[in-house]
Amino acid sequence: MPRVSEPRRTGMDVPAGSPATTPAARPPHRWARVPPSRSYFHPRWLIEAGRSALWTDSAADRLLTAEIKERLKARYDAHGVILTDSGTSALTLALSLALTAQRANRVAVPAYTCFSVATAVAGSRGDAFLYDLEPKTFSPLAESVEEVLRQGVQVVVACPLYGCPVDVPGLMEQAARYGALVVEDAAQGAGATFAGRASGTFAPLSVVSFGRGKGLSCGGGGALLVRDSSFLRAARAVSRRLLPPNSGWKEVTRAMGEWGFGRPGLYRIPASLPALGLGETRYDPPTPPRAIARGAAALLRHALEDDLGTEEEDRRERAGRMRERLASVPGVELIRPVSGSVPGDLRLPFLAPGRRAAPQLGLMPGYPSTLGEIADFRAHLAVNRLPLPGAAELVRSLLTAPTHPWVPEDLGPQVERWLRMEGSAEGTRDEMASPDAPARTGTYR
Ligand SMILES: Cc1ncc(COP(=O)(O)O)c(C=O)c1O
Repeated sequence: MPRVSEPRRTGMDVPAGSPATTPAARPPHRWARVPPSRSYFHPRWLIEAGRSALWTDSAADRLLTAEIKERLKARYDAHGVILTDSGTSALTLALSLALTAQRANRVAVPAYTCFSVATAVAGSRGDAFLYDLEPKTFSPLAESVEEVLRQGVQVVVACPLYGCPVDVPGLMEQAARYGALVVEDAAQGAGATFAGRASGTFAPLSVVSFGRGKGLSCGGGGALLVRDSSFLRAARAVSRRLLPPNSGWKEVTRAMGEWGFGRPGLYRIPASLPALGLGETRYDPPTPPRAIARGAAALLRHALEDDLGTEEEDRRERAGRMRERLASVPGVELIRPVSGSVPGDLRLPFLAPGRRAAPQLGLMPGYPSTLGEIADFRAHLAVNRLPLPGAAELVRSLLTAPTHPWVPEDLGPQVERWLRMEGSAEGTRDEMASPDAPARTGTYR
């Protein structure tokens, strides 16, 4: 799959001539590489999921999916749930339902978001209009949303990026003035709340993902949450048309890999295998939505039973400590949660113009381009020539740090140090002169 645009430079690709002047921040030991996210699975869950993938038992599978649906309904205050093979599939269904209900084909999406959102728009056969974001909060920019609504958009997608909540009720109010619907894509909303309510509980149609790095993970899967009963009949019809579930071997194998190799001591191994494409952002063309795989459903049931509250608390505490450190770094601006919200801290995002990422520390760039720059998506883009400076700034300047429980204790100081060194040539020279300077390498693989 070709890359859609030149990726932003990371600390791994130090330009020729610079190694001698670019000191490396140091992971806990030289071999270690901090994974950007973690997926937790108990070995017992993996064995059970393997068994579900191997043997089909229709009655047991039906009971399992019914139990998962009940749990998700309770968790997200939904009337109906469709379990799918990915968050992308769930979003594709949500957009198809919303566009059909609105008898429309114009859908507005953030110009800066996960490329899977573009895939879902293409899968729903919508015409995409892009709206801009306020880069310091990731909030939809009100004027920009107003503009796409004036252009006849009837469905607006909201995405809480990296666990930073969006004021979805405010957006719904704005959309309602034009008779438009909001679809809440809470794939990255784990642990985030707005006005005391969880992300994924606001819109008539919401979507969650259970893929890698989403907090609640099962090797691959998603759910469409139906909150407005007027969609229930159409949702049932759509769910009957889903392709049947796969066994789930792919998902269970992926989960084993994430669990086994997603630790700082071992992550370097999968990260160095180009075939796995870890850390790459690619646009995948749409595929027909499928029901959640059997093995993935078995994992998801356990993940839902497990108390994720502790992990969310833990993430918040770590992100809080890192925030305090980074707040004092010149030129670094933390993304602020919108008023009345609590971020889920899935990762810690901040603007750091001119600073490179440092994959060895799990410090990664954001998305490499706006959705408007994805060549293979152009055919699905409506011609709307809005200025999108917020999205462009995010492409240029966003970095995100990991917050998961396998992050080494001293990562905060390491990240701070990296950003200070990156931001100051003078600091770099001082650092190199210091007898305590860390081991330096030219590249960080
Ligand atoms: C905002 C957003 N929407 C949708 C998706 C798609 O989810 P999945 O990876 O489960 O297909 C993602 C995945 O990263 C996402 O970040």
